[in-house]
Amino acid sequence: MEFPGKPEAVGGALKPAPEQQKVGSDTLKPAPLTEPVIHIEMGPPAPPLRPAPVAHPVIRIENLTKYYYMGRNVVAALRGVSLEVGRGEFVAVMGPSGSGKSTLMNLIGCLDRPTGGRYELDGVPVNEMTKIELADIRNQKIGFIFQGFNLLARMSAQENVALPLVYSGVPAEERRERAMQALAMVGLGTRADHRPAELSGGQQQRVAVARALVTRPSLILADEPTGNLDSRTGLEVMMILQRLNARGITIVLVTHDPAIANYCRRQVKFRDGRIIEDVLNLAPVNARDILAQSGHLAKKKVQP
Ligand SMILES: Nc1ncnc2c1ncn2[C@@H]1O[C@H](COP(=O)(O)OP(=O)(O)O)[C@@H](O)[C@H]1O
Ligand SMILES: [Mg+2]
Repeated sequence: MEFPGKPEAVGGALKPAPEQQKVGSDTLKPAPLTEPVIHIEMGPPAPPLRPAPVAHPVIRIENLTKYYYMGRNVVAALRGVSLEVGRGEFVAVMGPSGSGKSTLMNLIGCLDRPTGGRYELDGVPVNEMTKIELADIRNQKIGFIFQGFNLLARMSAQENVALPLVYSGVPAEERRERAMQALAMVGLGTRADHRPAELSGGQQQRVAVARALVTRPSLILADEPTGNLDSRTGLEVMMILQRLNARGITIVLVTHDPAIANYCRRQVKFRDGRIIEDVLNLAPVNARDILAQSGHLAKKKVQP
């Protein structure tokens, strides 16, 4: 792999400091060093590992643009984004507020259409689809998790989770079974009859994760899923997402929190509607380990 920076620049930054400094009588400066300075020879820093191209990506985006037209004003939310995400990846999308993260998620999730560029989901060009085809592909292939949970207040956890199956015409009995399985996967098998108001924030988000899972999607899109949760509860959600990812589900997660991004194997950073960094995190933190170390799993009976 090529080293992207200029080697001279790096060498310059590592030049030894002058061993002695002149001390003027009128200004206060550091005293001369009496101990010999030890210099450690270091090579240039290792370049960040970039994701390799994949043969059959789940997401293939080329030069995607999105402009919002508001009267006379045009907001350039995405200014030419290219991105490939392979099967089984766990990608954190990061960047400041307004940098285009949610806009990208809406396009990947087929909730909106781009102004320009190309998008293939599982090898199928999304640009050319009709509205009905878009709704179909969304329902079959994508599970969504939002910051605000977006559960229906009058429905039980099980009914909320089963809802996407209503749209895909699954019979009632199978809907119930699959909703129960999905709730068990997020450790909420015993809360199936509870309404959202009877559940904690973390439990509500786990219901939302179960709802995203129930259609057996190949891709889960999570926009700030831990944004409304305290750090402990957020960690529980990350543990569940890591476990789903280990089972082969591709996850793209938006977060502005670097601590959350450290649980993901790849980190894509946005600024002003463009990708400015795309690197692999070779040692993602294991949320389950962190929770187990603090004794949290035993106390709260969150299923590992
Ligand atoms: N529906 C919309 N109409 C007009 N402007 C929008 C709309 N959605 C987002 N924007 C603008 O597009 C830019 C990117 O927004 P967004 O994708 O929500 O950023 P992020 O999720 O990174 O905070 C912002 O300037 C935002 O104000
Ligand atoms: Mg956003």
